[in-house]
Amino acid sequence: MNQYWDPHAYVRDASFVSELATPVIELLNPRPGERILDLGCGDGVLSRKLMDMGCVVIGIDSSPDMVKAAVELGVDARVGDGQELAFYEEFDAVFSNAALHWMTHPDAVISGVQRALKPGGRFVGEFGGYGNIETVIRALRKALPKYGIDFDKINPWYFPTAEEYRARLEAHSMDVRLCELIPRPTRLNTQLVNWLKVFARRFLDAVPEFERENFLEEVVTHCKGGLQNLEGKWILDYVRLQFIAFKPSRPKSCKM
Ligand code: BEZ
Repeated sequence: MNQYWDPHAYVRDASFVSELATPVIELLNPRPGERILDLGCGDGVLSRKLMDMGCVVIGIDSSPDMVKAAVELGVDARVGDGQELAFYEEFDAVFSNAALHWMTHPDAVISGVQRALKPGGRFVGEFGGYGNIETVIRALRKALPKYGIDFDKINPWYFPTAEEYRARLEAHSMDVRLCELIPRPTRLNTQLVNWLKVFARRFLDAVPEFERENFLEEVVTHCKGGLQNLEGKWILDYVRLQFIAFKPSRPKSCKM
């Protein structure tokens, strides 16, 4: 079951995702003329940015509505599952921001990325790591059983430790140059309830419609002490996992 994405709600309540992407673009260090796959391109704002830096970009996203929004920005965006990439040695880099935590089969992702990269190409990204939105998860775990729902059965998120992710990259013969967790408390420019409607939609959809408002109120109440400041602003306990990994270059043929 895929999460449904509403591009309008995303622009209204989640534009901070691309606004906070400067560090990961710096990690990517894109150069004009490079062919880049933007894995989980969403509404295409970052793909467009890479194109404006002179790169040739293909975007992939599982949401047709988000792909439509990306195409409207002029991006060559395609609907596709990041866990079933079908490219072969086409890209100088595969880039991903705030998307890999939605792909719960990380080995399938890495294997497809490995295949898609040219020898010597790089996989650079950032996504939610271990401990990400811990307070929200605790609140969901408390609230959901009342509606007969088991968090773990429908959890759509993958938030690994740096050690786990490094090991997975290395198991696919990637040369890992960086893999670390970075706590990044993130201030919302909206109410938590609106964030939940965009990002925790899988859980909301599982609750009977007539109970959804109560459920949301309960989750928000559980989070108040930990995440709301004295001015009433919400600061989420984001933890990012940043990584850079290279596909080995082809060994030079030995001269006899
Ligand atoms: C994140 O970007 O960290 C995130 C995305 C979806 C759900 C939770 C967190």
